[in-house]
Amino acid sequence: MIAANREGGLQTSPTEDLSPRELDWLKPPVLELIKRPIRRLLYSPYVRLANPLLARRYGRHISFPVDLWLEGQRGNDYEAHRRRLNRFISLRNKKILVAGCGAGRDLASWLPYAPKLVVGIDCLNYASAWDRSVTHYRSKYPGSKVEFLQDDLQHLDVFENGNFDVIGSDAVLEHVTNLSAVAHEFVRLLRPGGVVYATFGPLWYSWQGDHYSGWDGLANGYNHLIMDPTSYERYFELGTFGSHPELEEGRSWTTYRLFSYLRPTDYVETLSKAGLERQFIGVFIEPNAVRCLRKYESLRSMLLKNNNERDLVIGGMTIIYRKPLA
Ligand SMILES: C[S@@+](CC[C@H](N)C(=O)[O-])C[C@H]1O[C@@H](n2cnc3c(N)ncnc32)[C@H](O)[C@@H]1O
Repeated sequence: MIAANREGGLQTSPTEDLSPRELDWLKPPVLELIKRPIRRLLYSPYVRLANPLLARRYGRHISFPVDLWLEGQRGNDYEAHRRRLNRFISLRNKKILVAGCGAGRDLASWLPYAPKLVVGIDCLNYASAWDRSVTHYRSKYPGSKVEFLQDDLQHLDVFENGNFDVIGSDAVLEHVTNLSAVAHEFVRLLRPGGVVYATFGPLWYSWQGDHYSGWDGLANGYNHLIMDPTSYERYFELGTFGSHPELEEGRSWTTYRLFSYLRPTDYVETLSKAGLERQFIGVFIEPNAVRCLRKYESLRSMLLKNNNERDLVIGGMTIIYRKPLA
């Protein structure tokens, strides 16, 4: 169970070690190793096909420039995100902060680029997983320097200004409770010209934005937006629709209100206000959202009373921002 206080926001120093028993990413299943090159092969044609179609359908409803349109919640392919970032800034010999690293799953994807240092930070305690990861990475990438630290992204006082070339995060920004504080801390920690990368979703106002609603069927994916608090609590507590790790995690985020509760434009505006310059914005259109709104007309009308259609279908975003040189 995730350690946090119920008012929303995390305890900064929970002591319980939350490490999962199995660190499956240290030894990926053979099937995953086969799928990776196939995914890589198919990715470019898929992007070439999907991007213009989605841009034509959704582009006019959006108030900020979008460089790439994709389908899904955030795309779990860390490798594709790293390849894109490496085109904006070479990751070789760079000091990289991996913000909200959890038990350390995403670190493996940074190391093939031979960075100078990778520091994983999470406010929760995954001490034993981090120890095992460091040992594994030292033998797989001799000479690599990997560190983990338990701390809050809003106040990383342990690091000096301009300490990092790159800050990266996957599946974190939708959970930070004060994005503005985190973005300002990122700016402080980056050297001038340094780069922030983040991919995040599902976003709160999209289908399954609470990471929970809709596991039991297409029509229920917006329950977190339409139900009154008592009905939602009942729906949430009922939880009779099976159990698997992602669903359990979804329950924890909701129980402890670990959400930023932001709309896509809020993310863009907050990053700009913190002083970062936009380099790239990718938007993920959630296919379940599109299907749900098409199929359930009365639900759509109800949702549109308080929401913009754009916010209801954007499942996630991937961004790259730069700290200005001067
Ligand atoms: C969905 S998990 C993603 C973990 C990892 N990046 C991955 O892709 O597997 C989000 C992580 O962000 C962390 N997190 C959220 N807010 C944080 C904060 N203010 N400071 C540090 N970590 C935070 C959570 O503890 C959690 O481990």
